[in-house]
Amino acid sequence: MSDLTSKLKTVWIQLSGHSYPIYIGIDIVPILAEELIRLGWKGKIGIITDTHVARYYLSLCEEQVKKVSPQGYVVHVLPPGEEYKTLQQIEEICTTMLQGGLDRSSGIVALGGGVVGDVAGYFSASYMRGIPFIQVPTTIVSQVDASIGGKTGVNHPLGKNILGAFHQPHSVIIDLNLLATLPERIYREGFSEIIKHGIIADEGLFEYCRDNAELLIQKDLNCLLYPVIRSCEIKADIVMKDEKEQNIRAYLNYGHTFGHAFEAVTQYKTFLHGEAVALGMITAAEVAVQMGFVSEDVPQRHREVLAKYGLPIHWSVLPVDEVMQSMKRDKKAKAGKLRFILPRRIGEVSIDSNVPEDFVRQALEKIKSPSN
Ligand code: GLY
Repeated sequence: MSDLTSKLKTVWIQLSGHSYPIYIGIDIVPILAEELIRLGWKGKIGIITDTHVARYYLSLCEEQVKKVSPQGYVVHVLPPGEEYKTLQQIEEICTTMLQGGLDRSSGIVALGGGVVGDVAGYFSASYMRGIPFIQVPTTIVSQVDASIGGKTGVNHPLGKNILGAFHQPHSVIIDLNLLATLPERIYREGFSEIIKHGIIADEGLFEYCRDNAELLIQKDLNCLLYPVIRSCEIKADIVMKDEKEQNIRAYLNYGHTFGHAFEAVTQYKTFLHGEAVALGMITAAEVAVQMGFVSEDVPQRHREVLAKYGLPIHWSVLPVDEVMQSMKRDKKAKAGKLRFILPRRIGEVSIDSNVPEDFVRQALEKIKSPSN
């Protein structure tokens, strides 16, 4: 092992039949070469990225692959954005990789944010009935959430992530330096997912985000290491206990049932994912107040921390009826019944399927008011 190991933290995901490391550090992309040697892929490597990321980081990644890949590599660059998370892109990647000579002994490197990771992961799950892949995530949302745990997929015109597969990566390389070029709004939305991990499992992490917001917003990478590592530990722990989301993995969807509906009713044009989830978490906390699980203090604490990152904490034109309709179509609804992840305190949540519709409507009404 190289000097690099002293600069990184490793969190292992251990599943029956498949274990993989998550490496977290600053300036650690060179570990990609070591990982490719460790994994011993014999065939050509495919690198999948998008035009934004390619501009800054493709050559860094290619340098590592060149060093160790005996058969060479092929690159496919996607157009950026959620609208390209489609089956058509999978077909186009497939053409590139077939023409480039990737076979069943090949592997994929996914270099990018959540969309690239989901598309590259789904491609890897299906190409020649499945080849391995490595995630090199380049946004906070993908570093602390999307790149870990094997959820892959693409959207269908009638719904998000409708076509997908569980396909665990063989390695995840989280280099905080890759966040340097992120536009500020996209950087900030990532804190929604970190704060979510605090709310579902660790009050200390939640308080760290509250107390260090200034440094974190300024991209102080040393300050950012702890919440990223802690988020990865929390996610790894949950995925190891419930890989296929039969039970507690649903905790990771805290705020997402509302958040997805907020995104859908605005045609994905008003909120970034993390922004919608911020509003969704406050709404879930308001539902928990209605249910008598927590006092008003809990949604207030949500608002206090999320506001520090410039995340939305109210939405005056929230269309309550449309949101209710959209949530009923959500794929997380079981047999037409909505399930909510609700806080019991900061640091603990539960799954509840018996929430009266009135409580949900009242919680949504509260989000419309700026005074809350
Ligand atoms: N993003 C939620 C999960 O991976 O389960």
